[in-house]
Amino acid sequence: MDIKYYGHSAFQITTQEGLKILIDPFISGNEKCLTPVELINPDVILITHGHSDHFGDAMEIANNSSALIIGTHEIANFIQKQGLEAIGMNIGGTVSINDLVNISMVDAKHTSSLDFTENAEVGGSAIGYIITLENGKKIYFAGDTGLFGDMKTVIGDIYKPDIALLPIGDRFTMGPEDAAIAAKWLNVRIVIPMHYNTFDAIAQDPELFADMVSEKAAGTYTVILDPGETYSEE
Ligand code: NI
Ligand code: MN
Repeated sequence: MDIKYYGHSAFQITTQEGLKILIDPFISGNEKCLTPVELINPDVILITHGHSDHFGDAMEIANNSSALIIGTHEIANFIQKQGLEAIGMNIGGTVSINDLVNISMVDAKHTSSLDFTENAEVGGSAIGYIITLENGKKIYFAGDTGLFGDMKTVIGDIYKPDIALLPIGDRFTMGPEDAAIAAKWLNVRIVIPMHYNTFDAIAQDPELFADMVSEKAAGTYTVILDPGETYSEE
């Protein structure tokens, strides 16, 4: 399994069976992203909320690749109205892709307007995802969120993720200290920081976050990726 970082909160997970899952594809608008949109060719695109730094190039990529978009009911409705294929779901629900990979929607504490549309249409709630791979491993993608108790009692205790992708930028999401507490509550083996250093308002030193994680969450290892880098494991 590979987790490729495109910068900000954009990742592509390639599963053992080769399914390519792109998440929050903010690509062309991110000058830190080194990959041209045309080279991204996923099977599935997951969107956590309507903000343009997450919705990003989802529609263009879906158009080029025929990828299926997954989002909240409201985001899926918006995409279907533009003539593209989308599956809507909501918090607590699970959708199976090819009967091999499961996508579950979980809570996040954030907002979700489609801020790039003329009337800033409402995209439902902001959410996170649990991706359960063919081998049973679980990846928690938090999206944009503050720290909240269900990270411990629902996501940590019930879903039991192996890997967590957490925002650390502060201002619009939790900062490094709260994200280190989240890593502890989630009790994950690996944490990958995201949503930082894209622009000045979310400047953070990921090495300091890694120090906080080793202090607060013994047993959790921090993997810091630069845009373009990939983390791989079995
Ligand atoms: Ni946001
Ligand atoms: Mn954001």
